[in-house]
Amino acid sequence: MAITSIINQKGGVAKTTTTINLASSWAKQGKKILLIDLDPQASATHAIFGSADFETTIYDILLNNTTADKAVIHSEEFGFDVIPSEIMLSGVDIQLAAHFGRERILKKALEGVKRKYDKILIDCSPSLGLLTVNALLASKDIIIPICPEYFSLKGIGLILETLKNLKTGLGHKIDISGIVITRYRNRRVVNNVIKSVKVEFGLRVFKNYIPDNISVEEAHHKHLPVTEYAPKSSGAKAYRLLSNEVWS
Ligand SMILES: Nc1ncnc2c1ncn2[C@@H]1O[C@H](COP(=O)(O)OP(=O)(O)O)[C@@H](O)[C@H]1O
Ligand SMILES: [Mg+2]
Repeated sequence: MAITSIINQKGGVAKTTTTINLASSWAKQGKKILLIDLDPQASATHAIFGSADFETTIYDILLNNTTADKAVIHSEEFGFDVIPSEIMLSGVDIQLAAHFGRERILKKALEGVKRKYDKILIDCSPSLGLLTVNALLASKDIIIPICPEYFSLKGIGLILETLKNLKTGLGHKIDISGIVITRYRNRRVVNNVIKSVKVEFGLRVFKNYIPDNISVEEAHHKHLPVTEYAPKSSGAKAYRLLSNEVWS
């Protein structure tokens, strides 16, 4: 069992979409998966469950000492377990400001449930604040989705810097599993950015790029994995292949 965070401080790069679709592809292969929504916007929670509200969320785990198993809900459609989020989570940085050990609350909370799963995926918020630090300290590795454009390189630089600081400051070493190319379009600028990621940072870029594909977006709003909503679409095929590539 390993915990993996899906991170990028930029919004709209398909962190949530990638987390959900990797999780559902793995679940479909019979793996036991837990998805943790760690974004106050709760977009994974909404994409999976629609407008349902939840009594117990990740907020209670971080702020109210609730044990992780109390917040877990199973999604039949997606085939995996979820710890949902809620907007209250947006105040967490300030609420935990004076809390000793605030960076490791999630790590500790997951000790009790992690043996039940083959993989835990954490869908991070678009920031590198306390929530993301909690995700990173709980994780063995990270996956960075990028929707390639010139500024992607700066963003990756910042993530690497954060990992370095966590290693020197808190003694936690995190591996980078790889970069996922999302909303791919075959343009020269896009291909140049991908090349730079490999050359300048020496990072692994997963070979299966996720194309810009309307079915991926529609599946999101239909509360289904794209592999169920439109199994033959280019997006579904790409996520299936990517899930095998990432797991191996
Ligand atoms: N491959 C894709 N093709 C088309 N639309 C996509 C694709 N991937 C993601 N999207 C859409 O882009 C938007 C942002 O994706 P999301 O996963 O919420 O990003 P993030 O979590 O990084 O903010 C969503 O509306 C989503 O449906
Ligand atoms: Mg998101």
